[in-house]
Amino acid sequence: MIIHSHAKDYQVTLYEDFSFLEKLLDTPNSFLVLDETVYTLYKDKLFAKVRDGLEDRFFLIKAEESNKTIETALAVCEKISDLRAKRNSTLISIGGGIVQDITGFAANVLYRGIHWQFVPTTLLAACDSCIGGKTSLNYKTYKNILGTFFAPDQIHICPEFFQTLSQKDFESGLGEVIKFNVMAGEEGISLLENRMDKLQKRDKDLLGQVVLRSLEFKKRFIEEDEFDRGVRIQLNFAHTFGHAFETMSHYEIPHGTAVAMGVVAANHVSLLRGWMGKDLADRIEALLLNIIHVDLGCLNTDTEALIGAMRKDKKQTGNSLTTVLMKEDNMELCIVHDTSEEEIDEAIRYLLTLLRERNES
Ligand SMILES: NC(=O)c1ccc[n+]([C@@H]2O[C@H](COP(=O)([O-])OP(=O)(O)OC[C@H]3O[C@@H](n4cnc5c(N)ncnc54)[C@H](O)[C@@H]3O)[C@@H](O)[C@H]2O)c1
Ligand SMILES: [Zn+2]
Repeated sequence: MIIHSHAKDYQVTLYEDFSFLEKLLDTPNSFLVLDETVYTLYKDKLFAKVRDGLEDRFFLIKAEESNKTIETALAVCEKISDLRAKRNSTLISIGGGIVQDITGFAANVLYRGIHWQFVPTTLLAACDSCIGGKTSLNYKTYKNILGTFFAPDQIHICPEFFQTLSQKDFESGLGEVIKFNVMAGEEGISLLENRMDKLQKRDKDLLGQVVLRSLEFKKRFIEEDEFDRGVRIQLNFAHTFGHAFETMSHYEIPHGTAVAMGVVAANHVSLLRGWMGKDLADRIEALLLNIIHVDLGCLNTDTEALIGAMRKDKKQTGNSLTTVLMKEDNMELCIVHDTSEEEIDEAIRYLLTLLRERNES
């Protein structure tokens, strides 16, 4: 798959097994940044050569939000600037969204841009964040407020990596996969309904297929509106709710799971407005409940506090709340500036009751 962007076109390639890595790791003048957990899990199988001969071309990152800072990005820059062929070096990064955000930022600002290749190792990074070119860093208590647009030159996806993800991170990735396939309409929804079991068992071929379908869907929006001023905002579907669940759980609820919860809440507002029928809302909810496993004890479930967190979302501009909602007709995505607090309150209460009842049963 080729993604067109103003700066360059870049390619996404799907691989059946790890054999592509050998050639990638032989890239001349390359500098490797690896997720520490990925390194630990795969060092003998995939990274023996790195360990034995490339110590000065090698940087490990512990994938924690507290490390997604400008200091870590600068540390990567410093290491690369120590190399002899610095300007011509290629940064290769292997990891999830945290490693992607740090290395994308570093590759963008160092010498105003160096070559960068990315291997997403989480389902979430593979099905969503790896394309679109956003880099985001946290600053103090502010999440993702520093950032640029800079895409990798190439993206290499190998679903084999998803086999070792924790259940929590795997289900977080499935949250975004389900969201994309729901947005794609009946075909995507029935595909998931028929194969949810296989997907949850991490079938590699099916994972490759749904990752590509998700990226194909996202591609249309980012190519038309690369810099997030128009149609790309529609991809924010469920995210205003999701970000509130993420922050109010202090990131105990991972991004994709929070988004999955956001889909249920957003669809409930659509239902209240008569934009979506109960049958469709129930079908989507049934899919999502397969992968939403949260201990609500980690979340401040006071709806007023949750609405307050939604207001703080960086994409909120006016007094009333902006959300992206879905209409059943043509599965149209609408940017709605007048979502009322009452609607949101009712939708969140609905979601929380649903999850409580499910958790108790
Ligand atoms: N730039 C964007 O467009 C964009 C979009 C969405 C999210 N994000 C960011 O991405 C981050 C979340 O990324 P994520 O969900 O990919 O996870 P992550 O990078 O936080 O990784 C999650 C966990 O999985 C581990 N891990 C990674 N690959 C593994 C593997 N193959 N096997 C076992 N463990 C593995 C990591 O070490 C970590 O513990 C957030 O910081 C979010 O803000 C960025
Ligand atoms: Zn998302």
